[in-house]
Amino acid sequence: MLKATFTPIFHTIPAKSRPPSLSRRISSALAHTPPSVRQNASSNSTTTHPPYKLPPTSAYVHLPFCRKRCHYCDFPIVALGSSLTQTNEDPRISNYIELLCREIKATRSESNHNPPLETVFFGGGTPSLVPLKLVSSVLETLDLKFGLCSDAEISMEMDPGTFDAEKMKGLIELGVNRVSLGVQAFQDELLRSCGRAHGVEEVHEAIGIVGSCGVGNWSMDLIASLPHQTPEMWEESLRLTIDARPTHVSVYDLQVEQGTKFGILYTPGEFPLPSETQSAEFYKMASRMLSNADYNHYEISSYCKSSFECKHNLTYWENKPFYAFGLGSASYLNGIRFSRPRKMKEYMHYVQNLEDGIVEHDEDYFPDAKDMAMDAVMLSFRTDKGLDLKSFKEAFGSSLVHSLCKAYGPYVDSGHVICLDQERKNITADQFFSLLSDGHEIEETLRFIRLSDPDGFLLSNELISLAFRVISP
Ligand SMILES: C[S@@+](CC[C@H](N)C(=O)[O-])C[C@H]1O[C@@H](n2cnc3c(N)ncnc32)[C@H](O)[C@@H]1O
Repeated sequence: MLKATFTPIFHTIPAKSRPPSLSRRISSALAHTPPSVRQNASSNSTTTHPPYKLPPTSAYVHLPFCRKRCHYCDFPIVALGSSLTQTNEDPRISNYIELLCREIKATRSESNHNPPLETVFFGGGTPSLVPLKLVSSVLETLDLKFGLCSDAEISMEMDPGTFDAEKMKGLIELGVNRVSLGVQAFQDELLRSCGRAHGVEEVHEAIGIVGSCGVGNWSMDLIASLPHQTPEMWEESLRLTIDARPTHVSVYDLQVEQGTKFGILYTPGEFPLPSETQSAEFYKMASRMLSNADYNHYEISSYCKSSFECKHNLTYWENKPFYAFGLGSASYLNGIRFSRPRKMKEYMHYVQNLEDGIVEHDEDYFPDAKDMAMDAVMLSFRTDKGLDLKSFKEAFGSSLVHSLCKAYGPYVDSGHVICLDQERKNITADQFFSLLSDGHEIEETLRFIRLSDPDGFLLSNELISLAFRVISP
């Protein structure tokens, strides 16, 4: 129930957030069926521009280096071992940055500096391991190629134990103005069993450095449902998080990925992992405690103080385009999601091909309306804003809006799906059913549908899959 939708989204958005078997099923189904949604779309879509047609103003940059691989991690990373210090520069890092900058330079700019980039996200891996002058060269290359707004949000994932105050200040000088601290848990025994390269002491040190350097916008990552994690431990982690006063918190449910150490050791739902019911309790506890501490639960796994949403991640949820650079990263341009190779050698070939003008992805491909409709539902249902039925109708037709509403009837009744009008005022279940039976265009009155927090979010996999079946029967 809980699993697939609570993944960190980042650069792996298409593969991780959609149930894998479903995406294969969708593509083969679309190859053979007369696309009723597409017909609807073509007759209705002339009035608005879908978000993916906007010029991209966000860039994800993958910096894959870590001291060691965590036991749950299946991200494309390079484990450097413990030899690395902050003073001696590792040629594996400098060679990679050179390659990355070549990729940026060889990428076609979709907008010719107009508009320039508004968000840059350095994800990893552990970007805080990369020396300042190399971070600087990436930012310069991005600025030269695409332009960079003077007030751009520039985020960096940083691991406790990999930076000191001097490094933090240096990053701030380069323009980094948002830190995402990978804490995961506040118990040494849990950090050890996850194979983390730091303990709780380094977590507190890192929080101190971020605060003393005056970073006003920072986030903390936590993972729930770790092996041997008790409700008391989870409560303590949430309490210490709240005490540290980050402006943003990301709460992920552990994904046991094949090929990782956890994948070999553990089976989801079986001891020492929590049962599905216990995982749901962890999710509810996070939602309750963080909401009580004035955090808005603005996305399935994201909480923030008022106006501290991660602008970069909003690009993903709002289905807007973004560049991506680096090993294994996935871009979304002109409606096409494209993942770069996860292996360094293949990524080197990819960059060479890009420079030689050999295009690796099908530039003539035009996204199918059914896929676009499914993306729109899947992404917007992750957010507290929910699905905007007016825009959805303009893009995909009113009959699809009607079919979706009909399918969601039982969940409106049970309170898992919430209906809102133009002013975001609640529409009761009774009003919803009378609108549905009236037969006229429901989206004139019913403007948004969203999943309730926490019960609807907890059912998000089922509810998104239901929408997929309506869109592509
Ligand atoms: C790109 S990762 C790693 C960033 C950073 N190097 C770190 O480890 O703290 C970003 C976040 O994804 C989350 N994450 C990674 N793998 C996960 C998994 N298998 N299950 C749940 N959360 C995961 C962790 O909370 C992590 O901080």
